[in-house]
Amino acid sequence: MDLAPAVDFTRDNFAHLLAGRNLTAEQVNVRDGNPYSEMNLIRRGIAQARTTVPHIYRNAIAELPEALGWTAELCTTARTDQERRDAIIPTIGRGRSLLLLGPTGVGKTHQAYGAVRALAVSGVSMTWVATSSADLYAALRPRNGVDSETEFRRYAHARLLLVDDLGAAKSSEWTEEINFRLVNHRYENQLPTLLTSNVLPKQLADRLGDRVASRLTEMCDRSVITGTDRRRAA
Ligand SMILES: Nc1ncnc2c1ncn2[C@@H]1O[C@H](COP(=O)(O)OP(=O)(O)OP(=O)(O)O)[C@@H](O)[C@H]1O
Ligand SMILES: [Mg+2]
Repeated sequence: MDLAPAVDFTRDNFAHLLAGRNLTAEQVNVRDGNPYSEMNLIRRGIAQARTTVPHIYRNAIAELPEALGWTAELCTTARTDQERRDAIIPTIGRGRSLLLLGPTGVGKTHQAYGAVRALAVSGVSMTWVATSSADLYAALRPRNGVDSETEFRRYAHARLLLVDDLGAAKSSEWTEEINFRLVNHRYENQLPTLLTSNVLPKQLADRLGDRVASRLTEMCDRSVITGTDRRRAA
């Protein structure tokens, strides 16, 4: 565990997220020399979020009750586990997943990255991997010099995984197999996964297959976002 550098709070409104936890930028930037301190974990979380969250979502704040409830539950479970195991730091472990549904442009990805940013300032240790389903398939496509199974495990075994736009790409037997293997692994191991999709709730089984849809139903809290395309309104 390393000592994370001080955070520049003049951008990315992380200060706003911290205020929600009654923490100030000054408190978070106090260097106590303890790599396991809550403040160091927050600084690490912010540093990781800043390198991973796409630029357009860098200020995203989750407002959906389902997203806020999901992040809160993950944090509570992490802290309970920490006490039970007498561990040095709380770490995201097993937990429920979250499925955000809704038509194009209503803010699914915004809410998803908002949730990740909330987790980043929670003081709970987490490593997370984010991808769109199209990028996932591209990364896993068999090609010279890349072991697709090793790549697959990077996503399947991630502590926290964000899969954006599930069901958006044109499907094939191969993409269906990837979807099934990924969802099945996350399901069987109760690994928290944040998924977004613009597939209508009642079409999930048709678009993703019964077995994927069935697993998602059991493992996920679900939120259907309604509204108009925010991109066109801008
Ligand atoms: N709550 C919000 N506050 C401010 N801007 C928002 C909010 N939600 C979404 N936006 C903005 O609206 C646009 C569309 O949001 P987003 O990309 O999250 O939509 P989406 O539902 O994921 O769309 P798609 O289905 O095409 O992937 C983006 O520019 C995003 O930054
Ligand atoms: Mg999106």
